[in-house]
Amino acid sequence: MADLGIIGYGNMGSAIAQGYKNKYPKAKVLVFDKDKAKLKIAKFKTAKFLKELAENSNILLIAVKPQDIDSLLLELKRFSLKDKTLISIAAGIPISRLEKFLGKDTKIIRVMPNLGAFVQRSISAMAKNKNVSNKDFSSAKRIFAGLGKVLEVKEKEINAITAVSGSGPGYIYYFLALLEKAAQKAGFDKEKARRLILETAVASVLLAEKSGMEFSELVKKVASKKGTTEAGLKEFKKAELGKTVEKAVLSALKRAKQISRRIVD
Ligand SMILES: NC(=O)c1ccc[n+]([C@@H]2O[C@H](COP(=O)([O-])OP(=O)(O)OC[C@H]3O[C@@H](n4cnc5c(N)ncnc54)[C@H](OP(=O)(O)O)[C@@H]3O)[C@@H](O)[C@H]2O)c1
Repeated sequence: MADLGIIGYGNMGSAIAQGYKNKYPKAKVLVFDKDKAKLKIAKFKTAKFLKELAENSNILLIAVKPQDIDSLLLELKRFSLKDKTLISIAAGIPISRLEKFLGKDTKIIRVMPNLGAFVQRSISAMAKNKNVSNKDFSSAKRIFAGLGKVLEVKEKEINAITAVSGSGPGYIYYFLALLEKAAQKAGFDKEKARRLILETAVASVLLAEKSGMEFSELVKKVASKKGTTEAGLKEFKKAELGKTVEKAVLSALKRAKQISRRIVD
């Protein structure tokens, strides 16, 4: 019996399988994908059919795109899931949707990882339904610990998680791309600009993590009175960047709520 059976061996499915195996080399992982080409190159034991995976795994992890969920659930509900724990990472799909297809007594966990999964630095928010015992939940947490940090949340918090840490990498890359463009205006070619920005970003984040200091305190550490950073920051304040960032996060939250409401129907 496999500890973990992964349905959908795409970007996230393969990252989760690898992260789990790195952290727990003895763990047994079984994978299944409807795209047979993906299974051919898989580094894990593969199942030929969904039934084979469902019958031979203790935990089933659904890692298909949200638009493929319904047809997958219709197939899955034909198998006995009584003693299984089902984990879904599909964005915007509420636990109630999974219960609707698989039955209210199924053990279901919803997880929102982020792009950090590809470098084992995801922050994965995890919520469970009432059928999941503490022991089941601990086993599920071990899987996502292989991808980075784990945060237990209530399901109602997942939309806000999506707007902050789910979309977060997108906001940060957007800002880095703007900085890279500005550095080119300051006279660097694209390659040099990228190197300067990337090293600066990595060092800044590492220092924030290592020191545990507030972000605002770290800003003060760089921006001395009447200095260059202060001159730059004045422009951000003049443009009320803070308000724009707040609006961006709240818009993402509104959209996450719209998407999950539409899916509940
Ligand atoms: N990427 C992220 O950063 C991120 C972050 C958080 C959450 N997520 C969630 O993670 C999930 C997977 O995303 P992804 O980027 O890994 O997608 P992906 O690369 O497209 O992988 C999904 C795989 O599942 C296969 N599949 C579809 N229906 C199936 C079925 N019924 N049975 C077996 N396999 C099936 C797909 O095959 P075909 O290609 O042939 O359709 C594809 O190989 C999504 O629900 C997404 O919301 C992603």
